[in-house]
Amino acid sequence: LQEKLQQVRGWIQSAQRIVALTGAGISAESGVPTFRDAQTGMWARFKPEDLATEAAFRHDPQRVWDWYAWRRELVAKVQPNAAHHALAEFATRHPGRLTLVTQNVDGLHQQAGSSDVLALHGNLQQDRWLRPCPQERFPERDCEPATATDGHPPKCDVCGNMLRPGVVWFGEALPEIALFRADEAAGNCELMLVIGTSGLVYPAAGLADVARRAGARVVIINTAPTELDDLADCVLRRKAAECLPSLLQVESQSVTME
Ligand code: APR
Repeated sequence: LQEKLQQVRGWIQSAQRIVALTGAGISAESGVPTFRDAQTGMWARFKPEDLATEAAFRHDPQRVWDWYAWRRELVAKVQPNAAHHALAEFATRHPGRLTLVTQNVDGLHQQAGSSDVLALHGNLQQDRWLRPCPQERFPERDCEPATATDGHPPKCDVCGNMLRPGVVWFGEALPEIALFRADEAAGNCELMLVIGTSGLVYPAAGLADVARRAGARVVIINTAPTELDDLADCVLRRKAAECLPSLLQVESQSVTME
């Protein structure tokens, strides 16, 4: 395994255009549940069609709103881990060399200091209106959430529009600009690091193939086999927080007290 780490370290050193594509596994060591890990994964405990679709929200807004409130509280209690910090530190030391694309909505990359994160599945901390504000019917003003929410999904008390979590639900389109920029970066990179994703959800997972077809090397960092392993030049069966700092050579220089 050591020579694999050395090989990938060399690829990173010589690549001028790198894309990191991350999934829930990069936040696992921060204590955020992934989706498909056996037992602990969200989808082992909840049914996505009951919680992560617009139909589910329209059917039972309170239940969906509560689930996302629970996820927000959970994420508010955790910190970015060494993997998030390594990517942020690398991008700071090597401006313009790393494009960070994430499927995660936990905001931990941003909290670790990564800027310009391409968040393909939105962000847990942002809400948006369930439907466009029907301003033409109520020209006097945009929708405003009712002040007292007391745990209910905030509503506009003029037109009844509801706020919903600003995340991408199954069957929904991804944010166009983020996806366009991610696709462009994947098609122009020399190296893609695919970190902590099962590679099951498209179009995000498809970016690895975009990179490979553009001639980039693909490296997978994951504690378990994934759907994308076959198209990888190298698979590192490691925890992200354990190996990223040394791979990116941004290990915090341990201060040796004189
Ligand atoms: N280090 C590296 N990889 C890890 C670690 C770790 N410490 N812990 C878990 N993993 C790996 C798992 O082996 C798995 O392959 O992370 C991956 C997590 O996969 P999923 O739970 O499927 O999460 P993700 O791939 O991000 O899901 C994609 O699906 O539910 C939707 O919108 C949701 O963005 C999510 C999308």
